[in-house]
Amino acid sequence: MDNFYFHIPTEVYFGKGQIGQLGPAVKRLGTRALLVYGGGSIKKTGLYQTVQAIFGQNVIDCVELGGVEPNPRIETVRRGVSLCRQHKTDVIVAVGGGSVIDCAKVISTAVGYDGDAWDLALNPGLITGALPVITVLTMAATGSEMDHFAVISDMKTNNKAGIASQMFYPRVSILDPEYTFTVPKEQTAAGVADIMSHLLENYFSFVSGAAVQRRLAEALLKICIQYGPIAYREPENYEARANIMWASSLAIDGITSRGVNVSSSAHPMEHQLSGYYDITHGVGLAILTPHWMRYVLSEKTLRNFVEYGVNVWGIDVGRPPMEIANEAIQKTGDFWRSLGLPSTLHEVGINEEHFGVMAEKAAPLLKGAFCPLAADDVRAIFRAAL
Ligand code: NZQ
Ligand code: ZN
Repeated sequence: MDNFYFHIPTEVYFGKGQIGQLGPAVKRLGTRALLVYGGGSIKKTGLYQTVQAIFGQNVIDCVELGGVEPNPRIETVRRGVSLCRQHKTDVIVAVGGGSVIDCAKVISTAVGYDGDAWDLALNPGLITGALPVITVLTMAATGSEMDHFAVISDMKTNNKAGIASQMFYPRVSILDPEYTFTVPKEQTAAGVADIMSHLLENYFSFVSGAAVQRRLAEALLKICIQYGPIAYREPENYEARANIMWASSLAIDGITSRGVNVSSSAHPMEHQLSGYYDITHGVGLAILTPHWMRYVLSEKTLRNFVEYGVNVWGIDVGRPPMEIANEAIQKTGDFWRSLGLPSTLHEVGINEEHFGVMAEKAAPLLKGAFCPLAADDVRAIFRAAL
């Protein structure tokens, strides 16, 4: 196991009724809030009205940034920055999924920065401060509620930038699984694929002796395999939604990735797909991951895939190793298909047109991956996924 630094400063209030913590949490940080939300799901569910009532009771002066897009845009960040500056906002309250939270995070760091917000995406070293962010999570997927990442897109240049900064940790996150009851089936499934991908990205590593990280990752993967289909079939099953929600936070917060020293494989490739075609992130991952696995399976990686097949999918350890590895990959794809997720790029309207440029853009981010990939490798994986 490699050396690592681990510190999560996010306070988490998990469970039914924890929205009661929102008023006190905001008041600890100030009296002027920017409320950030998405395309309107929180108005349909009544959560918007609840949050407004809490602001009223606690005399919190609020301005709003609604309409944050899935795959949030830099233009929306800029609007949020202007609102914060005009209203001298003390705290940002993000109510929604990963897109809303990521948008809020980038706004929070851009408010005090003199240049354009996109500079921070290109060079996170420019981030020197942030307004505090409180999140009320409505969808389990990205783990943004408890991590130090944000992903923002400039669709004019088809650039989707994943940014990491210690300043991105939310100050407080309210995780009530009941708020995820209304998440549509396809988003529930995409969320499960995203959580599993976050775990798989670090599970496949050549660093030895990181048993804690590996066994925790296997446990969380099995939680997704057990509860994902239940959440998909029975949207109001609290136990399933609660376990998927907590798994989403734990999958990317570092407990399974610190000390294994590997960078992501599927994510940099997927971010090209959603940067060019605006597809749902978890859908892109579900399509690419089995093809990436097949591409990197070799004598060198066989041991990792056998461990995965035996410990996560329960495949008989007595079978020939290559058979175990191939079946584990097959089971991964079959599982996502069983949740209604597409398994080919054609199904989401993607053809070969941009493969060349997307592969060139992804490759520099894949040098530290489990199996480093060059542009030609990425192109081959995209082609296999057609
Ligand atoms: O916009 P609204 O109306 O709220 O609807 C959303 C949106 O259409 C809907 N939704 C969310 N909660 C709902 C609901 N609908 C009904 N009831 C609810 N309770 O679901 C749709 C998708 O929401 P979105 O926030 O886009 O999904 P997700 O949480 O998957 O976030 C995706 C974004 O996060 C990035 C992705 O690339 C993508 O841009 N990622 C962020 C990461 C991070 N910060 O750590 C890591 C991830 O790997 C990922 O890259
Ligand atoms: Zn992801």
